[in-house]
Order: sequence, then C-alpha cells, then structure tokens
Amino acid sequence: MSSSKFNFKIHVFFLVASLARFEPSLGLYLGQRHVNIVNKLENHETLMIHCWQNSDDMGKRYLKYDEEFQSAFIDLFTFQHVNIECDMEFKDGDMTRRGHFLVYDSSHDVRTRECYKWCNWSVGTYGLYAYDEVDHKWDYEIPWPSNNRF
Ligand SMILES: *[C@@H]1O[C@H](CO)[C@@H](O)[C@H](O)[C@H]1NC(C)=O
Repeated sequence: MSSSKFNFKIHVFFLVASLARFEPSLGLYLGQRHVNIVNKLENHETLMIHCWQNSDDMGKRYLKYDEEFQSAFIDLFTFQHVNIECDMEFKDGDMTRRGHFLVYDSSHDVRTRECYKWCNWSVGTYGLYAYDEVDHKWDYEIPWPSNNRF
C-alpha cells in the first residue's frame, strides 16, 4: 500500500470516529439507535403492540403498564433504509382503540421531537409522546387515529 493511500485510510478512520462522538445537538449520530415504546396508558390497560422492522415481523407483544418494547439497530443512513411500524391496541372503556404508527424511518423525520441514540415513545390514552434528546422533555406527537383501525 502506498503511503498516501495509507494516510487516507487513517484520515477516514479518524473522521468517522470523531463524527460518531458528535453530540445529539449537532444532528449526527452513527452509533447504535434504540426505539423504545413504553406503555403509559393512564387507565393502566394492557397495550397490544405488533411491530415490523423493514417488513420483518417482530412479533405481537402484550405490555402491562410501564413495560416496554425495544428495538436496537445501527442506522447507516444512505446505505440501509430502516423503517419500523407498529399496530397498537388497547381497551378504552367499552371501546377498543386501534392504530397503526410509523415510529422510525431513516428516510424522513416521523416526529418533530428529534432523537439520536434513544428514540423513546410513550403511549397514552390520547396518543403517542416522543422524548426529545436535545431539550430533555416529552412532547405529544401522534393522536390515536379517528378511524380506529390498524
Ligand atoms: C429511553 O428508554 C430507555 C430504555 O427504557 C431508558 O433506559 C432511557 O433512560 C430512556 N431515555 C430517556 C431519555 O427517557
């Protein structure tokens, strides 16, 4: 290997290593990401959650209050598209509420509250709340759909 090629590789290595350490506020994160969805239904009902990651069925789960669903992955941006969608259902009095939610997509923002390492969602009787890793607070993002369907 010529020494300039070698130097180039070293530079790329340090560039990637330093980018990977960027703080969330700088808008770039190359490490492992986590999508966590916690049941915080105010009526303490069980939440049914059934997610797919890039069409791979991640199975149906029943979460008690405070239990969570987790997915961890490396998002390589342009190299690999990551998409996570979930069906959710819970009992709201006499009715069953259902909804289909896009919780992560590497090709566009699915939430106004940004996330980098931890893409945490909290599910309540009014809908989904997202955790903002920059402002360190939860914010209401997506209501349960009015058509009540997956
Ligand atoms: C996000 O969820 C993970 C897993 O439960 C938890 O360890 C972490 O503290 C949460 N992050 C925030 C900022 O709430």
